[in-house]
Amino acid sequence: MSSEQKPRYGVDAYLDWVAKEGLPVVEDFGCDLFAVETAMWPRCGVKAAAVHLRGRGDFASMFLFDIPPGGASAPQRHLYEEVIYVLEGTGSTQIAFADGHKRSFEWGPRSLFAIPLNASHRHFNGSGRERALIVSTTDLPLVMNTFHDERFIFATDYEFAARTGKNAYFSGDGDLITVRQGNHMWETNFVPDLAALELKSWSDRGGGSTNIMFVLADGTMHAHISEMPVGTYKKGHRHGPGFHVMCVTGHGYSLFWYEGEKDFQRLDWKHGVVFPPADRLFHQHFNASRFPARYLATGVGGLRYPLTTQNRRSLMGLKPGDKGAVSLDIKQGGDQIEYEDQDKRIHSIWLEEMKKNGVTPRMETYFPQDGAPAIEAAE
Ligand SMILES: [Fe+2]
Repeated sequence: MSSEQKPRYGVDAYLDWVAKEGLPVVEDFGCDLFAVETAMWPRCGVKAAAVHLRGRGDFASMFLFDIPPGGASAPQRHLYEEVIYVLEGTGSTQIAFADGHKRSFEWGPRSLFAIPLNASHRHFNGSGRERALIVSTTDLPLVMNTFHDERFIFATDYEFAARTGKNAYFSGDGDLITVRQGNHMWETNFVPDLAALELKSWSDRGGGSTNIMFVLADGTMHAHISEMPVGTYKKGHRHGPGFHVMCVTGHGYSLFWYEGEKDFQRLDWKHGVVFPPADRLFHQHFNASRFPARYLATGVGGLRYPLTTQNRRSLMGLKPGDKGAVSLDIKQGGDQIEYEDQDKRIHSIWLEEMKKNGVTPRMETYFPQDGAPAIEAAE
């Protein structure tokens, strides 16, 4: 049988496309994006790499763009969504619409923004001296494996006008949509500095936790940010795959384990590190720093458009009045392990970490231990 006659099956159109584009690929569980090697990606006119986290699921992947001093990416438009986080550098992104009008906004370290679906866009490095390093979480694996047609994905001129959003969404403003703990949303296209955004209490997740969910360019991509105060850690939980967790401020570590496993896997994180809590993998985040630790999670399927039943169950529950399983006690059918039920080693490891870093533990407020008096958790 000649090669042309070989039966085609088991095709991953996304991976085939990445190979054809000549992109360097990094594949790992956790990854320091500052250490990833990039190479010229002719399509975008700048150096780039594909980042494929192990356990990322079927829908999402990342592209890292290294824009040289004074450089710019080539104009692009495509039928996959992108949520972009700025790791380093300053610059701007210009979006051009079918009627000829343009919008641009200026970003810097810790900015977050989304490209409205299929809008033509271009990134400019605003510095003549420093590179700009930005990372995009996309749903291209989902889109490419659905259509497996590059020309359709990159050369369709349909404009999704309803997704463009208000002008103010490109200038750093947005709308706060209050729902309930854990489900509050900030709707915008651009967040200038994730470290400066006001978050809302999500005490169900423990440790004085705060968060906000994003709706970006009315898209299907997921993004949320959470914060752990100094001297605290969150409760362990699990959910479906596809979330890419990136440290924004502070530093810390996470523990991972599958149900029934005796030992934890540990991953230390700081700005630039990304990791994927894999499908049904229990994970628990710990702030080990002297600063509040914020992290961004991106993926496919957000709170407005959960996309999958699993996401819907995790984020908001399946019936009106349900809680999202990510913050519901596993004893009540959810996916969260309350502090009093967690493996005893978890608190000891963390106390040791606090000692090592010279940080005063503040967990007695949320997890009274050894007869220590309980203090009302601040809302
Ligand atoms: Fe999680």
